This record gives sequence, C-alpha cells and structure tokens, in this order.
Amino acid sequence: MRILGIESSCDECAAAIVEDGRRVLSNIVATQIPFHAAYDGVVPEIASRKHTEWIGVVASRALAEAGIGADGVDAVAATARPGLLGSLLVGLSFGKAFAWTRGVPFMAVDHMLAHLYAPRLVEDLEYPYLGLLVSGGHSIICRVNDFDDIVVLGTTIDDAVGEAFDKVSKHFGFGYPGGAYIDRLARKGDSDAFRFPLPRLHKGDHRYDVSYSGLKTAVVNQLEQFRVPGHEATGENIAASFQKTAVDILLRSLFRAVEDTGLTTVVAGGGVAANSWLRARLAERTDLRCIFPPLELCGDNGAMIAGLGYRYFQRGDRSALDATASPRVPAFKRSYP
Ligand code: KG4
Ligand code: ZN
Repeated sequence: MRILGIESSCDECAAAIVEDGRRVLSNIVATQIPFHAAYDGVVPEIASRKHTEWIGVVASRALAEAGIGADGVDAVAATARPGLLGSLLVGLSFGKAFAWTRGVPFMAVDHMLAHLYAPRLVEDLEYPYLGLLVSGGHSIICRVNDFDDIVVLGTTIDDAVGEAFDKVSKHFGFGYPGGAYIDRLARKGDSDAFRFPLPRLHKGDHRYDVSYSGLKTAVVNQLEQFRVPGHEATGENIAASFQKTAVDILLRSLFRAVEDTGLTTVVAGGGVAANSWLRARLAERTDLRCIFPPLELCGDNGAMIAGLGYRYFQRGDRSALDATASPRVPAFKRSYP
C-alpha cells in the first residue's frame, strides 16, 4: 500500500512515498528559505507562488526516487490545515487532482497530528504517551491517545517556541530561520552567561502552559540586566543562555505533565525537536523513554503526511474531493490530568 504524501502548509514544498504507513521510499523537501531570507520571515504570496511552480516537479521526483510511476500510487494524502491558506491550497488541490485522475482514495490530514505521527515512521510505539509538539507556529504538550486523538494539556499563551528562536535570531542577525543558527552558535557559548527568568505559570489552568514573550523581551530589550558579572555579551553566550532558558520553559511544563499523568514515554515532533540542547536535556532523564524523529522528519515533510494518511485509509476514512483548506488549528480537546 503506497501513499503519496503532499505537504505545502508553509515554506517547504514536499512530497513523499510511504509504504504501509511505515517504510519511507522517498522523501523530497524543496525548501524556499533562500526566497524568504531577505525578509527574515515567510512571505505568504511568495510561498504560494513557489509551491505552484514546484509541486509537480517535487511530486515527480518523489515517484522517481521511490522507483514507481503514477500508477504505483494506491492513495494520496495532503495537508489541509493549519498553515498559510494560499500555500495549503496548492498542495491540497494537487493531491486531490492526482487522486481524482488516478481514481485512488484521497485523505486530507492535519499538519500537527502529522508532526506527532513522524516518530512512528521509525519506531514502534504503544499509545498513550506524552507528545511535545514544538515548531515555528506551535508549542503543545499533550496526551496522545491515538493517531487522531490528542488531549492538549498545555500550550503557549503568547509566542511559539520556534517563533522565539526566529525573533531573537533576527534581532541579533544570527541568520534565518533562527533555530538552527542559534543551536549551532550556542555550542560555542556559555549557557550561564545570562540568567533569564522563567515565566510565572504555576497554577491550575496554566500548569502545563508555556510563554515566550517575556524571554524574548528580556533577550532583545533588557539583555544587560540579566548578564552574570564576568561573562561577555558575545553572540555565542547570548544564543546559549537564550536556548537554555527556552528549553527550561518547555521542560518545566513537560515534567509536570510526566509527574501528574504517570506517562513515561515522551514523543517529540516539529522543527524545534531538532534542537540539540533539548535532545541532550531529555536524554539525561534516563527514567523516561524519549523519542525524537530523525532530523529529516522533524521539519515539514511529506512522509509524515503519507504515514498519517495511511492510518485513516486503514480505518476506511476518505475525504471528499471538495475538502477544503483551513489556516486554523483545530479545536483539540483540552483538559487536565
Ligand atoms: O515544523 P517546522 O519546520 O514548521 C512549522 O510547522 O512551524 O518548524 C520550523 C521552526 C522554526 O521556528 C525553526 O527556527 C525551528 O523550527 N527550528 C529549530 C531548530 N531547527 C529548526 N529550533 C531550535 N533548534 C533547532 N535546531
Ligand atoms: Zn510543521
């Protein structure tokens, strides 16, 4: 059972062929980063135009690398939400047209659930477990009950964690997008050079929430105030101290969720799951089983879409060919353990 997965929700134009929801036969990601770098952020109009130019080529390459033709595709899955509307529509329309012309089933899938599915492409995992979904647009700590059933325990009350990496990087001119640049710079810096405060989110409803606007303001506008005497304000030290605090904010909420739910498997997904400091800190918790997708499956990709699509296919779920795109995050259930 070979599924063509299409992903075009933001600035990666991606297609993949996945066999039986598990075996990645090809995974092509064409990044638009060079086209958006001049603006230090994704320009929606440029993104959708590039997707329109590239989607056919990217899908053809995915077929070629998998060693199959269009007639070797048994079903198609494409991202329908959330994301930039114009970008989403390109991949979704392409996926629907492909499925219609080949007469194969079509499944419209959710990008966030797909990020959480990504580690399952390489690891056998029993539900339930805790999910840590960290990307440019989202920071979610959730209980994952099934591939389409998550209960959000905590989320950001302002900026997403990846967004904070990107904004800090933009301010200091480290590079775009910021996450990977800060990660690399931080390796040469001292994470104790600055002592940034953690947000005050302790009680009731906010126990598992995170917040990044305070950290961003501290790093961008009040840097000197938090410098530890004897340490220099080098780019490396700023990156290392910011990254340490950004990860501490996530882990404080995540570890509270571990304690309260008793779940000891943590599965990470999303672009920020590539972060080496986050991976190292979680690896220290030898009492937990922490699963990270391989780096090529952390960022946006078509393999996670095809993998998740296979689960819907198996259950007999199909999307109608008038299924449309939505920029919004679906209303996931929210509760407290
Ligand atoms: O999942 P993703 O590719 O797109 C969204 O769905 O948002 O995530 C992109 C985000 C960006 O904010 C980027 O700076 C961040 O992931 N990122 C990282 C790293 N690599 C990418 N953040 C921290 N450390 C990294 N190594
Ligand atoms: Zn994503």
